[in-house]
Amino acid sequence: MRTIVVMNQKGGVGKTTTSVNLSAGLANAGRRVCLVDLDPQAHASLHVGIEAHGKTPTIYDVFADSKTMTEARQLVASNLWCIPSSIDLAAAEMELADVPGRELILKAAINELRQNEPYDYVVMDCPPSLGVLTVNALAAAEEVFIPLQPHFLALHGLSKLFETTALVNRRLNRQLRVSGVVLCMYETGTRLAADIAEDLAEFLEHADPHAPWAGARIFRSKIRRNIKLAEAPSHGKPIFQYAPKCHGSEDYGALIEEVMDSETSQTIAPARAA
Ligand SMILES: Nc1ncnc2c1ncn2[C@@H]1O[C@H](COP(=O)(O)OP(=O)(O)O)[C@@H](O)[C@H]1O
Ligand SMILES: [Mg+2]
Repeated sequence: MRTIVVMNQKGGVGKTTTSVNLSAGLANAGRRVCLVDLDPQAHASLHVGIEAHGKTPTIYDVFADSKTMTEARQLVASNLWCIPSSIDLAAAEMELADVPGRELILKAAINELRQNEPYDYVVMDCPPSLGVLTVNALAAAEEVFIPLQPHFLALHGLSKLFETTALVNRRLNRQLRVSGVVLCMYETGTRLAADIAEDLAEFLEHADPHAPWAGARIFRSKIRRNIKLAEAPSHGKPIFQYAPKCHGSEDYGALIEEVMDSETSQTIAPARAA
């Protein structure tokens, strides 16, 4: 089972778009995928067509220890499950403040999921902060994907993000590795985007070999700016369903191929990887 956290403390960089379309594409390719929405804004849940109301079990109930992940998940498409979020989750930060071991709640829940119902992929969409929800995701995951919009100041804040992965790696989760950066809303042909990608590649190349981002790469598949990607969420559909023939589908399709290239027999049941 591969556990991937999609994080960047900046808002509007493509976390949710990447989490949802990556999950949906992997499910289309026959992988069993569980998408976990950790953002109180619940955009990923809406994007896969879930509108949580009063009684819908959500990830909040998992943090409150009143539901397991198996109880809270919903089947949204063939091979694709989602554990939705709700605005209640906004209070989790405060409510968990006195709970011992609060950083490890999600890890325990995912371990239970792993025992009962192994998925090929668990993909976690984070809120735009480095608070307790993001730390829970980092403590529970093995891989970090960082969506980045290559514009002015894009790299600003990245060192804080990397430091957080290092801290979690030291204190909570030795397995944690940054797999790579996904360039989102990429403007092809602009000098600025290419320059930022180059600076980032150089930074990654010179990483301390013990850092969790040693070995991280910039994914070859860049996600171009594409209006269909911005329209799809309001239809409650991933891009492959909403507009299978646009640049957005093409780019996320290529990213998914790249992600599946690093599957191993340990991470994916051989029957499905074949
Ligand atoms: N490649 C893209 N092209 C055009 N619009 C995009 C693209 N990626 C994301 N968007 C839009 O940009 C906004 C922010 O993206 P989102 O994935 O929600 O970011 P985050 O989760 O990091 O806040 C959303 O309205 C989304 O639909
Ligand atoms: Mg988001």
